[in-house]
Amino acid sequence: MTDSFSLEHLRFDIQKAHLAVLDQTLLPAQESWVRCTSVAAVAHAIVTMQVRGAPLIGVVAAYGLAIAAAQIKGGRDDFSAGIAAAAKLLAGTRPTAVNLFWAIDRMQRRASALGDLPAAERYQALADEAVTVHAEDVAMCRAIGQHGGELVQDGEVIMTHCNAGALATGGYGTALGVVRGAIAQGKRVRVIARETRPLHQGGRLTAWELARDGIDVTVIPDSAAAHLMRTGRVDRVVVGADRIAANGDTANKIGTYDLALVAHAHGIPLHVAAPYSTVDFTLPDGNLIPIEERSEMEMRQLGQAVLIPDNAAIWNPAFDVTPASLITSIITEAGVAEAPFGASLRRLLAAKIQ
Ligand code: MRU
Repeated sequence: MTDSFSLEHLRFDIQKAHLAVLDQTLLPAQESWVRCTSVAAVAHAIVTMQVRGAPLIGVVAAYGLAIAAAQIKGGRDDFSAGIAAAAKLLAGTRPTAVNLFWAIDRMQRRASALGDLPAAERYQALADEAVTVHAEDVAMCRAIGQHGGELVQDGEVIMTHCNAGALATGGYGTALGVVRGAIAQGKRVRVIARETRPLHQGGRLTAWELARDGIDVTVIPDSAAAHLMRTGRVDRVVVGADRIAANGDTANKIGTYDLALVAHAHGIPLHVAAPYSTVDFTLPDGNLIPIEERSEMEMRQLGQAVLIPDNAAIWNPAFDVTPASLITSIITEAGVAEAPFGASLRRLLAAKIQ
């Protein structure tokens, strides 16, 4: 068995309270690291998508709160005000991925018991918590890979959208974790990555991380998926998620919904791979999931080249919601949930907690 995974893209220096992140806006042309020495720098890295992907945003936000704690030297009141301000800053970065709010909430709960400790001990406790959030995320991805890998048959072609890989998580990946899991189980797998306009996470990031691990990957224009499915060249679709409502409705990168409709029309199974930190049980369905809208400049220009004229309006929603009825299964670290997801997601979660 081989384990196709070697990427490191986050380095936390616990002594200096610094977080270095691989700048995903520059991949694949440049492997360049950004050093974040304040919570403002961490928030900036999330907003500008130097780091992106739902689970990774959560992990990075956890490190951001640890870095904030390192810079608060006063007593209990200063500490709680400083942590609240840092949490507010991070919570305002990106609205759709619920992992961000899950991680902030977890770190704030840990911080609430630390107010009376000396500053160095408060920092140490939050740094340890952030390292644990990171390690747990990698472990969850590996478990998702194991469960999802079992669904994959030898020789399959798997289509994916955006980047739900090592780069989008603490490491290993969710959708790409399923690919890695299947390969670790000895299966031959080929991946078709949709390029994922307008920021090209499929072409730039999924292709980069799979190719560097020696995994067979082909990039297609987003609009080619239906043609490939109609001509029998896709066996399975596996995507990640930014937020899953209690009934299984799933927000993911814009274009996932059309991919799900096309897969459904061709009888091709579509799986969502995500850890429980992506499930938002407070939302009964996907209608209330906030959908981020990003700058028109992401579409108007590519570097110096103008792609859309100044006098044309642009609308750039970053996510869409795929109804649960189009999803074959949701692969979590606790196992594979099937419809009706309201019951199966809760059942698996209960088994995980026991
Ligand atoms: O806007 P992005 O690049 O942060 O969007 C990422 C995605 O939509 C991913 O598919 C999703 O976060 C799942 S990541 C494991």
